[in-house]
Amino acid sequence: MVVISSPSDLIELLVGYQPAAAISAASQLGLFDALNDRPQPASEIATCLAANHSNLNALLEALVQLGLVSRTDDGFTNTPFASAHLRSDSDLDKVIRKEAFFSKAWLRLSEVIQSGNPILDPWKKRLCEQSDQTTEFLYALDALARITGPPLEELPELVPGRVLDVGGGLGTYSRALAEAGSTMVLVDLPEVIELARGYLADLPTGSVELIAADLFTEPTCGIEIESVDAALVSHMLHDYSEETGIGLLRSVNGAIRPGGFIVVNDFASDIGPGAFGVLFDLMMRVETGGVAHDLAVLTEMLLSSGFCDVRRAPFPAPITVLIARKDS
Ligand SMILES: C[S@@+](CC[C@H](N)C(=O)[O-])C[C@H]1O[C@@H](n2cnc3c(N)ncnc32)[C@H](O)[C@@H]1O
Repeated sequence: MVVISSPSDLIELLVGYQPAAAISAASQLGLFDALNDRPQPASEIATCLAANHSNLNALLEALVQLGLVSRTDDGFTNTPFASAHLRSDSDLDKVIRKEAFFSKAWLRLSEVIQSGNPILDPWKKRLCEQSDQTTEFLYALDALARITGPPLEELPELVPGRVLDVGGGLGTYSRALAEAGSTMVLVDLPEVIELARGYLADLPTGSVELIAADLFTEPTCGIEIESVDAALVSHMLHDYSEETGIGLLRSVNGAIRPGGFIVVNDFASDIGPGAFGVLFDLMMRVETGGVAHDLAVLTEMLLSSGFCDVRRAPFPAPITVLIARKDS
C-alpha cells in the first residue's frame, strides 16, 4: 500500500493526468505518424500538422522527457518504441484513445459515488447508438488482451476441446484457443458477432462457431444443453452484481457437459499490485455500473452456481484466473 506522507507526494499523484494528456494529444494530432527517421525541426512538424509552432515545440519537449520522442541538433524523431508502437491504429494507439475517452467519465467520479449510477449508458444502448465508439472499445480490449492477458491456451481445461467463449467480444481468446487446437463457440450480442466475423475471417472454417444471442435471456447461453467440454467467462463478471453474475454462471453451467470445466478470467478487487484491484473496481462503477468482486466472492459465485474444486491458475497478478469443475 502506498503511504502519502508529504504534501509533495500528494502533488505528484495529483498531476498524474498530465503525461497521459500529453500522449493522448500526440495521438489525436497524428504526431507519431508525422515524425519519421529523419530529424525534423518543430517548425516543419507544426506546418505539417497545422499546429501552433511554440505549443507544438512544448509538447515535443515534454514527449522527449517522457521517453517517446528523441531530439538532436537537427530536430525531433520518434524513439524506436514510438516508431514501432504508437503510430495510428497500432494496438497501443487504440488503448490511448480508449483511455482518453474514459478519462472524461472518471472526472465525474463524485457523481457516481453520490448517485450510485455509472456515467456511461448501458452497453446494449451504446452498441446501437454509439457504434463507432463501441467498435473502437472492442478493438482496444482485443489489444489489451493480446498485450496483457493470460496465455489461456496453456490450460489443459481449455485445450483441446469444444469450448464456449461467453461474451467473447471480437474473439481474441477464441482465436488463441482455436489456433491451439480447440473448437470454439463464441456467443455475444448480434452487433459484436458481426465484428467478430470480420476479425476471425482468416481462421479455418468451423474452428470458431459464432452465435448471436443475449446471454441473459437465452437458456444455456443460447447453445445446446451440455454441449461443450468447457467454458471461458472472460471479463464478464465485473460488469454485474453478485446475484446477476450467479445467474449467468448457472446458465453457463447448463451448457457444459458433466465433469467439464469453467475458466473465469477477471480482475479481483483485492488483487494488486498496489491499488490496481481497487481502482479497477472504481473503473467498473464509473463505466458500466458493475463491480470488481474480490477473490472470495468470485469463488463463492462459482460454488453457488454448480461448480466445485475452485482453484486459481498460477498466472502473475493482477491476472486472476479461476478454474472450477462442473459438480456432477
Ligand atoms: C468486457 S467485454 C469482454 C470481451 C472478452 N471476453 C474479453 O475478455 O476480452 C464483455 C463482452 O460481453 C458482451 N456482452 C455484454 N452483455 C451481453 C449479453 N447480454 N449477451 C451477450 N453478450 C454480452 C459484450 O458485447 C462484450 O463483448
